[in-house]
Amino acid sequence: MANDGVDKGRRRFLTATTAVVGGAGIAVAAIPFIKSWQPSARAKTSGAPVEADIGKLEMGQMVTFEWRGQPIWIIRRTQAQLDALPGQDSRLKDPKSTVEDQQPKFAQNEFRSIKPELLVLVGICTHLGCSPKMHAELKPEPFDPEWKGGFFCPCHKSRFDMAGRVYDGVPAPTNLVVPPYYFVDDTRIMIGVTEGAA
Ligand code: FES
Repeated sequence: MANDGVDKGRRRFLTATTAVVGGAGIAVAAIPFIKSWQPSARAKTSGAPVEADIGKLEMGQMVTFEWRGQPIWIIRRTQAQLDALPGQDSRLKDPKSTVEDQQPKFAQNEFRSIKPELLVLVGICTHLGCSPKMHAELKPEPFDPEWKGGFFCPCHKSRFDMAGRVYDGVPAPTNLVVPPYYFVDDTRIMIGVTEGAA
């Protein structure tokens, strides 16, 4: 009888332990596919400019650099992607990039860039900081049947066009940020500072 009592108690303990571990395992497994960027306040305000060599960047490709703890995307846009931008204006929250602090003055144009084909963006969603993914092709996507290329944030389904401009009806409030930068020469970009301010 005494042994029965011990065994039952032990069984209960093991069952409870397994349930707790199982619950924790599920919670952990659900998270790692969504990468969130939360650079510290110190990382955001410190850090020297970064020189990016884009000599090998081909048409339609993206390369990522890091500046102040943030991913900086540089994309060489195709002519088709550029041609599609004006047609998106009526679907966007801020098509003319009027919201301050989302881009330097030099990027308040239809391409949001110095050279039309080269887009430079901070690759962090303006909603809650996830990292959107580039969907560069101009073709219907499950999240937008009229897709003309751009960026899709898997966390809460925000969409941005190939200039980083945010669409209406998504949780992200503003366009993706264009950082300060300038061209050192045809193949090198200095990220983190505007020309003359270095
Ligand atoms: S963090 Fe991108 S949509 Fe919420």
